[in-house]
Amino acid sequence: AHTAHAAVSTDQPLVIAHRGASAQAPENTLAAIDRAARLGFTWVENDVQRTKDGKLVVIHDDSLARTTDVEKVFPKRAPWKVKDFTAAEIARLDAGSWFSPRYKGARVPTLKQYMNRVSRNHQKLVLEIKNPQLYPGIERETLKTLSNEGWLGPAHVRSKLVIQSFSAASVRKVHALRPDVRTGFLGTPSVAELPVYARFADQINSSHTTISRAYVATIHALEGPHGRPLEISTWTVDTPADTRRVAGLGVNGIITNKPDVVRKTLREN
Ligand code: G3P
Ligand code: CA
Repeated sequence: AHTAHAAVSTDQPLVIAHRGASAQAPENTLAAIDRAARLGFTWVENDVQRTKDGKLVVIHDDSLARTTDVEKVFPKRAPWKVKDFTAAEIARLDAGSWFSPRYKGARVPTLKQYMNRVSRNHQKLVLEIKNPQLYPGIERETLKTLSNEGWLGPAHVRSKLVIQSFSAASVRKVHALRPDVRTGFLGTPSVAELPVYARFADQINSSHTTISRAYVATIHALEGPHGRPLEISTWTVDTPADTRRVAGLGVNGIITNKPDVVRKTLREN
């Protein structure tokens, strides 16, 4: 146990590209994970939600308004909720121009398209089930898509995939449906509550503003559902100062919009 603990605290944290390399390309698009791949980042994070006709798509907000041209294409459909549009309608939207004219024509990917690209890029994925309260059954559907795309085989489950959510109920469901898949709970449960989370989550992924050295140590001293030390990836860390601080706390992963900045800082330390 002592050796395992030492390994946890001395390894450099994994760098995970938040919504892809989202400071350099439009978040949650194929361009954003391609950019992460070109920069040399294996791990990416995304957000999964569901369309009106039951297709899974990769987008962060529950509305299409901020990251697409939906207001222009469908001016009468305010507030432009993802769940009120079909996949065919969403496929017409430009998800790149809001970020830069350079990315005009980027699309909101379906989860299937996204998984294909992650595979092609030889990347690994922290998949967030976003707003699951809006999409009953999304846990089973997400697992089905992952399975269809070859992402629930032993090699993938062992080292290429984590499924996380801010909803403990959703993380619990994923764990119950596929106990072999690694899971993460997004949040900062109290130290007293952590053992309950450790029954169904391999990771506690907390905002970097909420964590201390003692909190990280408490997480590492607990065992997750697969009999290994509980881990913590922290978000969203975009500056050298914050990178140094959380690396010093011994976190396992750093989720960042600026993976190049974080990597450079870690190499200098
Ligand atoms: O992966 C952690 C982070 O993505 C959680 O916040 O709002 O960016 O999905 P948010
Ligand atoms: Ca997210």
